[in-house]
Formats: sequence, structure tokens, C-alpha cells
Amino acid sequence: MRLAKRVEKLPPYLFVEISRKIAEKKAKGEEVISFAIGDPDIPTPQHIVDRLCEAARDPVNHRYPESESLPELRRAVADWYKRRFDISFDPDKEVLPLIGSKEGIGHISFCFIGNGDIALVPDPGYPVYSVSTMLADGEPYYLPLKEENNWLPDLDSVPQNVLERARLLWINYPNNPTAAVADLEFFNRVVKFAKQHDLVVCHDGPYTEVAYDGYQPVSFMQAEGARDIGVEFHSLSKSYNMTGWRIGMAVGNATMINALMRLKSNLDSGIPQAIQYAAIEALSGPQDCIQEHNAIYQRRRDLIIEVLNEIGLEAEPPKASLYIWAKVPEGYNSMDLTADLLEQVGVAVTPGIGYGKQGEGYVRLSLTIPDAALVKGLSRLSGWSNTRRRVAK
Ligand SMILES: Cc1ncc(COP(=O)(O)O)c(C=O)c1O
Repeated sequence: MRLAKRVEKLPPYLFVEISRKIAEKKAKGEEVISFAIGDPDIPTPQHIVDRLCEAARDPVNHRYPESESLPELRRAVADWYKRRFDISFDPDKEVLPLIGSKEGIGHISFCFIGNGDIALVPDPGYPVYSVSTMLADGEPYYLPLKEENNWLPDLDSVPQNVLERARLLWINYPNNPTAAVADLEFFNRVVKFAKQHDLVVCHDGPYTEVAYDGYQPVSFMQAEGARDIGVEFHSLSKSYNMTGWRIGMAVGNATMINALMRLKSNLDSGIPQAIQYAAIEALSGPQDCIQEHNAIYQRRRDLIIEVLNEIGLEAEPPKASLYIWAKVPEGYNSMDLTADLLEQVGVAVTPGIGYGKQGEGYVRLSLTIPDAALVKGLSRLSGWSNTRRRVAK
């Protein structure tokens, strides 16, 4: 069987080796405590599930949904953005619900990237930005995110010959995997840069509601002129513990939203309507769950940070996102450390190299670990410092 080149040239899944080792341990009956996945462990709030069940019983919702989703859902998204960020969107032209934000992130490259075009992609970064660029026959140009720049890309460092072929710029704050945040001043600079070089901007912002110590992340769409050149991807996955239901949205520039809608309408048949009603309930109903969840994550964050620093994995408490980005101690690289933690104490973390070259030297730990497992995991990590061995880099 001959696979298409675009599938053949997809990069190997970097976490395969770790997943294999975890499976091996589990097969031997050993318990692995995983800090590796950013998938909320707390259930979807009851009122949202109730609305979903009620809508699932109504035969009206058993048929094909419209590609552009229910007008009530587009209105609920626009109203939520107005309340949360004080931005107004036309629900018919500037809002598009998605089958999870990953779906839209994957598809939008096909709207703006063609043969040989470049997308500017953060490194380290969520892998879908570069993979979708490649699937659309484009080339990712990696923008290094470095600690000394607070994990923001240095836009002025992009060479002229790259800018000439660049069509799209990806940004993501609060950031996965570094947990960095961006302010409006940075977003204003991004808009200026994009206008200067005729780029469209896709801001990926699924973590704007997951924040700590009273910090409130901003939306890229609040930047001056953002609507002229960009869209923001958002999601109900992390805000409302709805990863399993697959629902997100894109908002912003009407031409970009229309292009994505036209593409999608040829590929999928919309979001199951019962899930759309659940999303309306999530966005329009009581919002207390967000603060409640953030308080749980914040408590876990503080416990994890304390232990990591004790065992020599330096880490700062993040202001937002579901992640801790910890420095690998001397004598290890990110894969060595990941393998060693798994081997010695049965704890799984994610190696930074899995998010790009610049992720080397770090590992990512997720806060979505149930409390009982967290306690066990932290006690194991504390024990690890004693069994630590030096491995050549
Ligand atoms: C940065 C980032 N963007 C997008 C997504 C996709 O979220 P979803 O497809 O569940 O909306 C994730 C999920 O982990 C993510 O970390």
C-alpha cells in the first residue's frame, strides 16, 4: 500500500517511546503516576451535563447539524466575549463554533498556506501548528521562545527572505508548554508586525480562563486592529472541563472566519446539536465553576512547585495555564530525565523536546492530576532525589 507523501512525511509522534514505557510498566502491574497529560480530571459541571442529556433526548437534535452551528450558540459565544473581554463580535460573521479548537487550528492552515508558503510557528509549541502547515504543503519557520524573552517570540529576528514567503503567524498565550503569559502591549506589537508584513495571525487561547492569584489573561482580540488581520481560537475544553465533548470556537476577522467555514462545510457536518446546547449552557450559565477549578489547580501548583524545587527541578509558579515548565537538572536532557523518573519512581512527565528543539532542557508537568494521585506522585518525586544518578548529556 502506498501512502500519500503528506502522510509519510508527518513527523514521528515524539511521545511514542514514553507511552511504550508506560504501557510496559502497567503490563507488569506497576502503577504509573502521570503528570503528562493536560486533560482536566474534574468532571464537566453538572448543570452542563444535565443540559446535554436533556438535549440528547430531543429528536430535533438527532439530525445533521448546520455547519455554521446554531445561531443561539454563535450568539452565546459573542455574548461571552463581550462579558469577559468587552469585545463585540457579529455572531453571524465573526464567530464560528468548532469541533474542539484543534479541529479549527488544523484546518485553518489550508485556508492560508499553499505550496511553499511559510507559517511562523513558536518553538516550543503545540505540535498542530507545524503539522497542519506541512499537511497544507507549507513550511514552518520556527520562532524560538526563550526564557530571557519571557517566552515571547523575537519578531524582529525573522529574516527578510522568510518574511517574503510568510503568510501566517501562530501565537499562543497563556502558553502550552511554557505556561508563559502575554500582555496587551505584546499583542499590539504582533498586530503591527502582521500588518507590516501582510500576515494573518492565529492566536490560540484555550487557557485564558485558567489563571491563578487573581491574574486575568487578556485576549489577542483586545489588541488594536487585531480584527483586521487575525482570529482567536478558544475552547470549552479547559475552561469547563469539556475535553471529551469536543467543542471550541474561532472569533475575529470576518474573511478569515468565512474561509474557515467554507473549508469546514466541505469536510465535516457540524457539531452534534446536544453538545451545542451544552456549550450554550456552559457559556451562559453560572460561572462559579471556573474559580472553583482554578483554586484546585492553584493548590496543586503550589504543592508541585515546592517538591520540584526541593529535588533540583527549578520551576516558577505559573500565572496561568494547566502546566508547570520545569528545568532539567545538570547531567540530564529532557528525554533522559523523563525516562529516569519513569524508571526509578514510576512518575510520567512530558519531555520538553517533544514540543520542539527549544523545549530541550525542560519537562512539562500538568496540574490535571487527581488529588490522591498527586500526593502519591509528589512523595515519589521527593524520593527520586535520593536515587538520582548522573547521566551524560
Ligand atoms: C495550546 C493548545 N491549543 C489547542 C488545544 C486543543 O484543545 P481542544 O481541541 O480540546 O479545544 C490544546 C489542547 O491541549 C492546547 O494545549
